[in-house]
Amino acid sequence: MDCEKKKRIGVLTSGGDSPGMNAAIRAVVLTARSLGYEVMGIYEGYKGLVNDNMKLMYENDVDNIIDKSGTILYTDRCDEFATEEGMAKAAEICRKNNICGLVTIGGDGTLSGATEFSMKHGISCIGMPGTIDNDLVVSDYTIGFDTAMNTIISMADNTRYTCTSHRRCEVIEVMGRGAGDIALYTGIASAAQVILLKEVFFEKAKVFADTIAYLDSLRRNGKRNFTVIVAEGVPLDIKSEYKTELASQLAKDIDYYTGDIDPAVEAARDANPENKKLYRPNHIETKFVRLAHIVRGGIPTLRDRVTASRMGIMAVELLYAGESDKVICEQEGKLAAVDIKYALSADKMYKILLNRRYYETGLLNEGSEKDYLKYKKKYEAFSAGLSDEDKKRLTEYAEKKLAEFIKTAAEASRISG
Ligand code: F6P
Repeated sequence: MDCEKKKRIGVLTSGGDSPGMNAAIRAVVLTARSLGYEVMGIYEGYKGLVNDNMKLMYENDVDNIIDKSGTILYTDRCDEFATEEGMAKAAEICRKNNICGLVTIGGDGTLSGATEFSMKHGISCIGMPGTIDNDLVVSDYTIGFDTAMNTIISMADNTRYTCTSHRRCEVIEVMGRGAGDIALYTGIASAAQVILLKEVFFEKAKVFADTIAYLDSLRRNGKRNFTVIVAEGVPLDIKSEYKTELASQLAKDIDYYTGDIDPAVEAARDANPENKKLYRPNHIETKFVRLAHIVRGGIPTLRDRVTASRMGIMAVELLYAGESDKVICEQEGKLAAVDIKYALSADKMYKILLNRRYYETGLLNEGSEKDYLKYKKKYEAFSAGLSDEDKKRLTEYAEKKLAEFIKTAAEASRISG
């Protein structure tokens, strides 16, 4: 069914919610209504589609929501939609509700679901990148990224003040799934001394030792506050006895291994190696905080409201023009509609490039090894219909984006004093 004749579309939010999703929903509803469409708001992502949980939306349903975090359509992950039967059921429900096309707002999982749905069941789908992670490689920006980062830097500023009062270090773990974008830019903006990212090859023992030595040298030069930002993807992806506790363990190690050498303390520690409270004189007392879901709740910034609104307008205009299987991206400041299979192929290629060295050196834990093999399988599936030229182009693009990210991370280390 294309949307030039049928006059009802659906909109849903799926995956992790992100500030700005409501601005996107608002833009979709208002644009669609202005073009003569009815709009079905589908609750809880694809689950709402499978369960026929939706309602017609009007202008007043999206009044006063642009400044609200979260999503008024709620979100959820839906395993049933990933099955043939579930998808067929969803298609039947679309037809029953006379829905000709969908605007799906979410991360890469949402977009791959939309592609499959559109290809198998002929429901036109236009995707919008709604995630705080900024991890869709073909788009320079994803909705929620700016708000999440502003939430983090206000928290990091707060900890820096109290750290200065007490001469302490704060290790802050931030979300971003496997991407280090949130960690890198909040690390720069919060004047962090150390920023740990998966994109910069991470070998735990060396990174721990280098971090401790560096912070101790700054302490000796009189510095009184220390901030370490850790991307959550590092602990989850690096084979470590701490598993997801890598960042909190780093905090404990900074606490224990910094400070001046005092023979009496060293002797006591040798005699009691299990006692980790035998601190060295002038050690850097260190605290740990995992910001986790706090960063998903910020009031959407102008950047997110405007980007979400403009992307929402474009998404509906594409459906109106009879388009499908596109994802709205921001590229070098301009909005573009990218073929969704190309976008997802580039996304998987980027994740393959990012994880390959860890995989080959046996540093991925079991879960991440499975993810790595899944990226390779999904890349083959999404890129199957692409030309060799397109595959070459997207591979070069992914390599360039990763290299640029690593270069920015290297530059950041120049101002980490
Ligand atoms: O994808 C957005 C995100 O916030 C990631 O940064 C994070 O790892 C994940 O969602 C958490 O998922 P959930 O909200 O299901 O715990």
